[in-house]
Amino acid sequence: MAMQEKLRIEDLTTCNQAMARCLQLAALAANSDVPVVLLGETGTGKTLLAHAIHNSSARAGRPFIAFNASAISDTLLESQLFGHERGAFTGAQQSVKGKFELADGGTLFLDEISEMSPLAQVKILRVLEYGEFERLGSERMLTSNARIICASNCSLRERVRRGKFREDLYQRLNGLTLLIPPLRERLEELPALIATELKAAGLKEGKDIAAIHPEAMEKLLHHKWPGNLRELSHTVRTMTLFCDGPVIMPEHVVFPPDLEPDRATSELANSFPTLASNNKENDAGTDLSMESAMKRHVRFVYEQANQNQRRTAKLLGISRSTLARYLRDVAKK
Ligand SMILES: Nc1ncnc2c1ncn2[C@@H]1O[C@H](COP(=O)(O)OP(=O)(O)OP(=O)(O)O)[C@@H](O)[C@H]1O
Ligand SMILES: [Mg+2]
Repeated sequence: MAMQEKLRIEDLTTCNQAMARCLQLAALAANSDVPVVLLGETGTGKTLLAHAIHNSSARAGRPFIAFNASAISDTLLESQLFGHERGAFTGAQQSVKGKFELADGGTLFLDEISEMSPLAQVKILRVLEYGEFERLGSERMLTSNARIICASNCSLRERVRRGKFREDLYQRLNGLTLLIPPLRERLEELPALIATELKAAGLKEGKDIAAIHPEAMEKLLHHKWPGNLRELSHTVRTMTLFCDGPVIMPEHVVFPPDLEPDRATSELANSFPTLASNNKENDAGTDLSMESAMKRHVRFVYEQANQNQRRTAKLLGISRSTLARYLRDVAKK
């Protein structure tokens, strides 16, 4: 992550045309203060690109402040955006700067902007229109010369059309729109990305992996990557853990359960081959609940890890006690 925060646009390379166009626009954006909207599915690299634009801009020495308004309740919103003075409300024991103030001279990155509440939209619009705001509990007007970069994983224009996003705010934010293509549309990048990730994962896991078996590569190339580059990174890390020799074999390539609701039931069921024969739910029609999918995934990874609990917990990114609980629940079925 620390790496990602230092990246500049010229550090990013691509052999895909749409992505190259996106990086060209990012370079233009870095040379200007125009507001930028980054559109792309989850995990395509919006946050990474926002950092890169900031780092390649004249604001690089100033703060990069990220704010996800959709994750903040309306009651806390104003104090988060504009800050507050000591005693402004119960529990306000000291003065605190808000995101606009913190980002002064730098970049304010507004994440998941399409999910912002109507109140958040009004408050942000006001600052952008008047260039001024005050901390809660203060009359003093402050200004912020923050450059705004927004990210969204769905079309903002569509949100405006459906009445979920203010047209006036959309117009203000929409200086330059960069469309980051999903990984499945830039598969030509895959071998180079895998090689880089494999090197990093090998170093982390202390493994010296020399090659990927063609069938394993085939499996990677045919995957749809709903989680994009984030999923790629996790998948490479997992296959590195599973790999016990110098070559990644097809059985080392394991994808997380695909929980997209529009996936065909049979496809979902097929992604759990080791369980299909002894899972009662599958016989009666697959149970598509999150809970059930999670249990199947835990069981699957547990089997893949030769029932080694320490390794399974590590792969799943959970503690051993949590794993033990899941396994008990699975056993009860
Ligand atoms: N071009 C790239 N090269 C290498 N790694 C990348 C690239 N783009 C993204 N990544 C990696 O993929 C992961 C996801 O990227 P990032 O967090 O920027 O995605 P995002 O679009 O902001 O996702 P979300 O919508 O969930 O916020 C990160 O670990 C990031 O380092
Ligand atoms: Mg992000």
